[in-house]
Amino acid sequence: MNILLLGSGGREHALAWKISQSPKVDQLFIAPGNAGTATVGKNVPLKETDFEAVGKFVVDNEVKMVVVGPEVPLVEGIVDYFKSQPSLAGVSLIGPSKAGAQLEGSKDFAKAFMMRHNIPTAAYKTFSGGQLAEAEAFLETLSAPYVLKADGLCAGKGVLIVSNLKEAKKELGEMLGGKFGNASARVVIEEYLDGIECSVFALTDGKHYAILPEAKDYKRIGEYDTGLNTGGMGSVSPVPFADKEWMKKVEERIVKPTVEGLAQEGLDYKGFIFFGLINCKGEPKVIEYNCRMGDPETETVMPRLKSDIVELFEGVANGNLDQYKVEFDERAAVCVMIVSGGYPQEYKKGYEIEGVDTIEDSIVFHAGTAMKEGKLVTNGGRVIAVTSYGKDKEEALAKSMEGAKAISFTDKYYRRDIGKDL
Ligand code: AMP
Ligand code: GLY
Repeated sequence: MNILLLGSGGREHALAWKISQSPKVDQLFIAPGNAGTATVGKNVPLKETDFEAVGKFVVDNEVKMVVVGPEVPLVEGIVDYFKSQPSLAGVSLIGPSKAGAQLEGSKDFAKAFMMRHNIPTAAYKTFSGGQLAEAEAFLETLSAPYVLKADGLCAGKGVLIVSNLKEAKKELGEMLGGKFGNASARVVIEEYLDGIECSVFALTDGKHYAILPEAKDYKRIGEYDTGLNTGGMGSVSPVPFADKEWMKKVEERIVKPTVEGLAQEGLDYKGFIFFGLINCKGEPKVIEYNCRMGDPETETVMPRLKSDIVELFEGVANGNLDQYKVEFDERAAVCVMIVSGGYPQEYKKGYEIEGVDTIEDSIVFHAGTAMKEGKLVTNGGRVIAVTSYGKDKEEALAKSMEGAKAISFTDKYYRRDIGKDL
């Protein structure tokens, strides 16, 4: 069948790489894609949120399955749009409906959902613009550090962790006053949870679920988690503390009640669920849900997934995911993200990238790259992810570092400590 994948980052190159290995695929299209996705499929210049144009492309090119990489088209209702168009009946979408995507699109919705289904998470309260005094009073009942979350989507920038009460009140006022526009019209204030994070991923057909390899991502720009937050500087899979016993708790207390809760509430959900978890003294708690895969977790999760992902997607679409087996590669995988100098603040684009063709021991996933006059050039903050396998994470990291060394462009930067804290 023909498949269309929406998105343009490292996550999408990793998904495209995996999808393209399936014998079930005739043509793989990626919209809009990047220079890396063009090596495993055909890029098409469509905007992910232009549903009409996407729908027209799907009809014209006999696409039978659409896999949605990023959250924005899901939260804006691409699945609902496809269902509303007679010409698109019979096209399978891998991604939840607008109602299901609220798990990511509204922090308040996600928290209330977890409360309704008894899913372990931080204590919280939600406040809107007229409730500043109540919100400040609630802050006073908590202890530092204070966690403030804009309710809506903020491209990963809507969570603030503030170390003192005065600062927290100031930030709260600014958020409710429109710091993140409509996304912070409501603010979730929650208890701070101390622990190490772990990302767990599942596919669901709305009734059954399949748990994929877990991963940990590294968000700060500096080694040993210092400096500013980024979109992600690397990832490792598996995560040593996510052993059989811990994953059993995750499945029983979090994954199963989430899938059952979605079904009970009639929230149409066929796609990925990303559980952003934190390990609090051995007990997993949910920090957040996302309605898509993680980036750069996908760059280690896909390499560790042995099963044919297109078969799993068929299980999702047909409602018989329980008939499929998910097999993991036992090796470790480590992804090192090479970024533009200056990122996540100001950086330059358009530098020529050399050395990609010389990499033999690693998989190169493109994030912010483009082809310009026949040359591969930098085109974003996060440029290229280098993923390697190893018998353990140390061996995988060593190989990814070799790869990162061999790829060159002006002012490149990468972290050398991915997985070392575990
Ligand atoms: P989120 O967008 O909800 O994942 O939050 C972004 C990041 O903030 C998370 O990955 C955590 O590192 C941190 N964070 C969010 N909520 C909490 C919390 N309740 N306690 C501690 N850290 C948190
Ligand atoms: N790596 C975290 C995310 O994709 O949101």
